[in-house]
Amino acid sequence: MYETSEATRPAGAALGHKRAQVRAFAEEFERDLVNGLSKTTRSIAPKYFYDAAGSALFDRICELPEYYPTRTELGILARHSRELAECIGPGSEIVEFGAGSLAKIRLLLDAFPARDAPRCYLPVDISAEHLESSARRLRADYPELRVQPVAADYMREEQLAGLEASPGRRIGFFPGSTIGNFDLVDAAAFLRLAARLLRGGGLLVGVDLVKDAQTLHRAYNDSQGVTAAFNLNLLRRANDELGANFDLGQFAHYAFYEPVKRRVEMHLMSRRTQVVRIGAREFTFEEGESLHTENSHKFTIEGFRAMAVSAGFEPGPVWTDDARLFSLHWLESPLRSVND
Ligand code: AVJ
Repeated sequence: MYETSEATRPAGAALGHKRAQVRAFAEEFERDLVNGLSKTTRSIAPKYFYDAAGSALFDRICELPEYYPTRTELGILARHSRELAECIGPGSEIVEFGAGSLAKIRLLLDAFPARDAPRCYLPVDISAEHLESSARRLRADYPELRVQPVAADYMREEQLAGLEASPGRRIGFFPGSTIGNFDLVDAAAFLRLAARLLRGGGLLVGVDLVKDAQTLHRAYNDSQGVTAAFNLNLLRRANDELGANFDLGQFAHYAFYEPVKRRVEMHLMSRRTQVVRIGAREFTFEEGESLHTENSHKFTIEGFRAMAVSAGFEPGPVWTDDARLFSLHWLESPLRSVND
């Protein structure tokens, strides 16, 4: 974990630390990609989408007419911001997981009268550059708020070790249905980690809902091809950072809704038989062979609440839009986490 604000450290040390961190991320990427390509069903974790270019592409996805989740969640946040502020309580410290461009937190911040405003905001994101520039803009607009960006993989507890202990009520914010990226085991692991971090505070989670397959299909197969570019950016990144030689024209974006597992799957599918190199290693792709890049699970409201209960949370109010496309869940974390 490192804090991207360099005020706390001499410039040289911060730079060295940053470089070491970048190197560690690249090594992890190489290890995960090589392992993922060595399995019979090839896959890679979606967190590797989010370098600076990938984060910018994701921000464009959020604006697409077909991609309903962002717009719908922002609508729910705006419509119920008073109730949400009540749940959060005065003088809180908010930790956001996978914070991205820090757009959603603004709606929460704006819901408080000045004296009750959150004191501190800790956005955690794997994309360091994107996080730092977003944090600068947020600081300019909310000068009273302490903004402490944390460039880290929030699934790795050791990278979160530096999150400051403070006396105030701590709140978790996990919007966007990013929790849908995890399988059941990892989602439960995330919730337990959040419970340890929040020490009895609340967790506000955005959860995409099960719906007709066509709406889902369109959301992940947009007409402008932005989602395809986002998916393919993973290969461009492997070429740039790992010296791989993926031919981006020879892989196709392939996304579909799988109704039994209730998830949208994204794949990169080889258009022909081809050999790809990553450093000294060679991988053969048959025509039609896929690299599975993302799962995006969809939930029922009751299904998600049951999962939260099994991870030790006590579910509170739920908010949705009129068309029931998306949901926001308030969960109270146990004072002592299940693993203590
Ligand atoms: C950021 C994981 C919530 O699953 O909808 C958007 C990522 N992938 N389009 C999602 C994504 C393709 C997004 N999450």
